[in-house]
Amino acid sequence: MKLNGSTILLTGASGGIGAAVAKALDQQGAQLLLVGRNEQALKTLKKRLSGKHLIVLADINTQEGREQIVQQCTQCNGIDLMINLAGILDFGFFEQQSDHCIEQTLTTNLVSPMLLCHRLIPILKQREEAAIVNVGSTFGSIGHPGFTTYCASKFGLRGFTEALRRELADTSIRVLYLAPRATDTRLNSDAVTALNSALGNKTDSPEQVANELISLVSSNQHQRYMGWPEKLFVWLNALFPSLVHGALIKKIPIIRQFSK
Ligand SMILES: NC(=O)c1ccc[n+]([C@@H]2O[C@H](COP(=O)([O-])OP(=O)(O)OC[C@H]3O[C@@H](n4cnc5c(N)ncnc54)[C@H](OP(=O)(O)O)[C@@H]3O)[C@@H](O)[C@H]2O)c1
Repeated sequence: MKLNGSTILLTGASGGIGAAVAKALDQQGAQLLLVGRNEQALKTLKKRLSGKHLIVLADINTQEGREQIVQQCTQCNGIDLMINLAGILDFGFFEQQSDHCIEQTLTTNLVSPMLLCHRLIPILKQREEAAIVNVGSTFGSIGHPGFTTYCASKFGLRGFTEALRRELADTSIRVLYLAPRATDTRLNSDAVTALNSALGNKTDSPEQVANELISLVSSNQHQRYMGWPEKLFVWLNALFPSLVHGALIKKIPIIRQFSK
């Protein structure tokens, strides 16, 4: 897909990866609809960009917020690309998480992106070439202790993406999936950052994720997994889950040490 001159909806624009993606797309000459709830963060981001972008202040978890997004997409004559990047993470053992936190994580990371796709597919179909990018995670393929709710949301997003890709295969819309590994943003609390370092997990920069996303959209591929050995573990977990199970359960005492 040609990004120069395209119109792109970006949720999660006010976040760490979102700001890097916005900058990279701005450099490619795309017009952006920057979605988020934090007006100040979005205004600061917009000032750093050179193109004429729009800020859409919206909570993707409310019907009103989603309608506002749809309205803006219609008003700017449709969109070529929709990037579902907004997401949340609450690290901790499942038993200790509140009902509210479980519901919010599933809603933000899975249900709201699905509902947005549902509303925007008819708009995307008006283009000769269009795409949806859903941003998942390594944890969308590997069930990891301490991240059970987050894993459930990202496994769901990956399944949704795969099925939708097949359902829309005879249309003009490509449905893509990007799975970053740990990335240096505020999504990861201090406890998660400390855990990653104790477990020896490597961390990418938001700019690396942004470059991978742009490379994916510009390629003929449908999905990308980031990082080594994370890619190997995703593959191993699919073929030999008991090997990954054995390795991960040994880490439970360390994970417990860092969880609330
Ligand atoms: N960082 C990592 O280690 C990592 C690894 C793999 C995958 N990912 C995925 O990458 C994506 C971006 O993460 P990040 O690291 O950039 O996180 P981040 O810095 O915490 O940013 C999260 C973004 O999501 C937005 N958001 C959350 N709930 C929202 C809601 N209800 N309505 C509208 N916007 C909402 C936030 O907007 P507000 O300003 O409105 O709060 C913010 O822009 C997420 O889907 C995450 O799961 C991240």
